[in-house]
Amino acid sequence: MKTLCLYYTRTNKTKEVMERLAAVLGADLAEYSDGRDRSGVFGYIGACFATVNNTLPRMKLQNGVDLKAYDRVLIGMPVWVEGPCAVGRAFIKKYRDSLPSDVFYVVTHMGDRDYLTKIQAMDDLLGRPSAGQFSVKTKENDYLKESEEYAKNLSLFC
Ligand SMILES: Cc1cc2nc3c(=O)[nH]c(=O)nc-3n(C[C@H](O)[C@H](O)[C@H](O)COP(=O)(O)O)c2cc1C
Repeated sequence: MKTLCLYYTRTNKTKEVMERLAAVLGADLAEYSDGRDRSGVFGYIGACFATVNNTLPRMKLQNGVDLKAYDRVLIGMPVWVEGPCAVGRAFIKKYRDSLPSDVFYVVTHMGDRDYLTKIQAMDDLLGRPSAGQFSVKTKENDYLKESEEYAKNLSLFC
């Protein structure tokens, strides 16, 4: 099964998680973004506004990535303001017709909540049921080990 791990990241946690998943799954890895510099305090505030206003920014997928070439895509994104970030949601909405039937959401967050209800609600943007969800806490947790376990389980079934 040809798999692609995609990520949007602001402070590299989601990137690390997706790198680990890709390594275990033998998948390709690529980045998507809205092209905005969201570093520092102003970037943080901008991220909050984008989420609260449900602004769906312009999306860019790393050059040369053909989504239709894959059987399975894992889409990584952080939580912003109690739900999957605006950039991740915008990506799903924009590219849903190019994504394969097997789409997994991978969401990182620093708090104890798993956000699964809100993660699953992204199926409304996808327009069909996703194949699975993985929610991982990146603060005070061995999130790379947890990610590795998730990927190992996933590969058992595919
Ligand atoms: C604007 C903003 C809002 C956030 N809101 C939450 C939140 O509501 N709950 C939570 O657990 N983490 C929240 N976080 C923390 C991130 O989800 C977490 O640190 C994530 O792993 C960062 O991923 P990244 O390094 O790939 O950007 C927020 C981060 C940002 C920048």
